[in-house]
Amino acid sequence: GRVLLAYSGGLDTSCILAWLLEQRYEVIAYMANVGQEEDFEAAKEKALNIGATKVYIEDLRREFVEELIFPAIQANAIYENVYLLGTSLSRPIIAKSQIEIAIRENCKFVSHGCTGKGNDQVRFELAYYALKPDIEVISPWRIPEFYERFPGRQALLAYAAEKNIPVVQTVKKPWSTDENLFHISYEAGILEDPYCTPPKDMWKLTVDPEDAPNVPERISISFEKGIPQKVVNHGDGTTITDPLELFIYLNTVARRNGIGRIDIVENRFIGIKSRGCYETPGGTILRAAHIDLEGLVLDRQVRAMRDQFITPQFSQILYNGQYFSPEREFLLASLLESQKTVNGEVKLKLYKGNVVVEGRRSDTVKLYDMEESSMDVQGDFSPVDSEGFIKILGIRLKKWGKSSL
Ligand code: ARG
Ligand code: SIN
Repeated sequence: GRVLLAYSGGLDTSCILAWLLEQRYEVIAYMANVGQEEDFEAAKEKALNIGATKVYIEDLRREFVEELIFPAIQANAIYENVYLLGTSLSRPIIAKSQIEIAIRENCKFVSHGCTGKGNDQVRFELAYYALKPDIEVISPWRIPEFYERFPGRQALLAYAAEKNIPVVQTVKKPWSTDENLFHISYEAGILEDPYCTPPKDMWKLTVDPEDAPNVPERISISFEKGIPQKVVNHGDGTTITDPLELFIYLNTVARRNGIGRIDIVENRFIGIKSRGCYETPGGTILRAAHIDLEGLVLDRQVRAMRDQFITPQFSQILYNGQYFSPEREFLLASLLESQKTVNGEVKLKLYKGNVVVEGRRSDTVKLYDMEESSMDVQGDFSPVDSEGFIKILGIRLKKWGKSSL
């Protein structure tokens, strides 16, 4: 049979490729460009040398920004109060394109290099099944003949040598990473001890906030319906409106100001606790700006309901790999409805790891009334009304206060 293998160019998926060939499958390799730093051409050569019939390299960056990152910003998506879901967000877009190619190439099987202990296996496979219910999945790290043959890195290296697979990294970093436009994750290896402080040189995307410039940088971001439309740098006047370019630019300014690092212990879907470090530079700025603008332009009740239900549910669906589902479609429709008024601009100061909001305005949404909110002007408001409001609310509390408890 023919397999479409999600290939990274690394040791694991290279050995999986060789092993699938050994099991007499025909293998097509698939590489998704979601903005990770990677030599795609070198990886393509490598896959062809190992024996892949064909290699697909798909640039999914624009779709990733428009279809996944921006809705996550609109939702203020966050997992367990800190994780901005960078890996979770990339999986639907990678799986969707993999299935499209599997259909085009008549592949009966798809395969991936996820371990049997993580979230990613769930995310990829549930997406595969939702998009092509008759697809068959080969998950080598869950097949005894595979994992018993390769109990550790040494066994993989020996196999690579036997199969003439070049191993590029000579000094392997003592942790594993997953990188895309939105974030990079660091897990496993020395990080498995949750008390172990990550070495300074682990962090790859952002400068250490301590080493960031001593002068703040000021930008503003404009939104329409909760979607970023424009970024302006107040220092050099740089103005960007293209969604992909805009997000890449936010990454650039965030990275040099040390913005977006976290170090957490999270609960994986399958019930295992896991320590992870993450850098989400541009996403951290956008989230702060979007949340702030909502203060000015989002109705109180809509905001409360969105915060209570849509934000946590949407985040959980992403984390747990149920993106292609009826509940996600339902939540997204409702989320977009909530964002109708999220139009305006936020001014921000970026300084040594911090995103500081310095002001916001909206030309079109008039929920905030300067006169009404003012302590100096009466405006169109009668203070006597507040007296009745408080009296009525007080009825019940007075009763409670009189009761001897
Ligand atoms: N723990 C994070 C998540 O589940 C990051 C996973 C990183 N994945 C990887 N294959 N290295 O979203
Ligand atoms: C993996 O297990 O392949 C990476 C970690 C995860 O998916 O949670």
